[in-house]
Amino acid sequence: MAEGLVEAGGKVHCLDILPEPDKAFATARERIKGEYGGGLEYHQVNVTHDEELEKTIAGIAAENQRLDGLIAAAAIQQVTPALEYSHADIAKMLETNYTGVFLSARAVARQMYKYKIQGSICLIASMSGSIANKGFIAPVYNSSKAAVVQLARNLAMEWGRIQPDGSGGIRVNSLSPGHIVTPMVEENFRRGEADRATWEENNMLGRLSTPEEYKAAGLFLLSRASSYMTGSNMVIDGGTTAW
Ligand SMILES: NC(=O)c1ccc[n+]([C@@H]2O[C@H](COP(=O)([O-])OP(=O)(O)OC[C@H]3O[C@@H](n4cnc5c(N)ncnc54)[C@H](O)[C@@H]3O)[C@@H](O)[C@H]2O)c1
Repeated sequence: MAEGLVEAGGKVHCLDILPEPDKAFATARERIKGEYGGGLEYHQVNVTHDEELEKTIAGIAAENQRLDGLIAAAAIQQVTPALEYSHADIAKMLETNYTGVFLSARAVARQMYKYKIQGSICLIASMSGSIANKGFIAPVYNSSKAAVVQLARNLAMEWGRIQPDGSGGIRVNSLSPGHIVTPMVEENFRRGEADRATWEENNMLGRLSTPEEYKAAGLFLLSRASSYMTGSNMVIDGGTTAW
């Protein structure tokens, strides 16, 4: 999704807790270098560390005297039966998947208000926020994603109107993907927590998706192409939740 935004001319900053980004980041940066007029930068940030996150995002906005969009995608996942779920593990997951997303949206919206930018925010939820996801034992992850969908609606309501001073007018939507082959999901298969063939069978197209299949959705949600869309949950799941 970051690559798609750069290809459209955006200056994109990727924030992740990892000390170094995945190898795919360097490959992407090399491919798009100089060609589209945008840029791709990396910052190591823990989205649950409020001050560190605020500082990084304020710095990015100050450098450009604007901040136009956010895709909030940080999340962790844990497969554990509800009867065995510990208090500490519930708190840890909600801290990242809900609080981290909230703090990211809040930090970005503060800059959009400051620079009077009518920006757009996309919170990454999941189809697992709307269904129990047959056979996949992830009660806290799934409900954290339901919270993200509901958060998008509420932030959209609070930030949608343009104020007399020209601030506000910020759109907020959530995106609910189906199964994507990413490191998170490859780890599920490796540990035997999910069966690839079952997941492939579980949707109308009979296959899993790839990250590239969400590229245009990210561009659509962050650009003026979606100018009348806010408070919505965009579902791209190969039909899993439709049957
Ligand atoms: N893969 C799927 O099938 C699927 C389906 C629906 C939704 N999603 C959602 O898509 C998003 C991306 O997931 P993914 O599959 O690429 O997983 P992933 O594990 O590959 O990526 C998640 C990233 O979040 C980062 N992260 C975790 N905690 C963080 C923190 N505290 N601060 C900053 N970064 C942190 C991780 O380092 C990792 O790079 C997540 O929100 C996930 O819930 C994934």
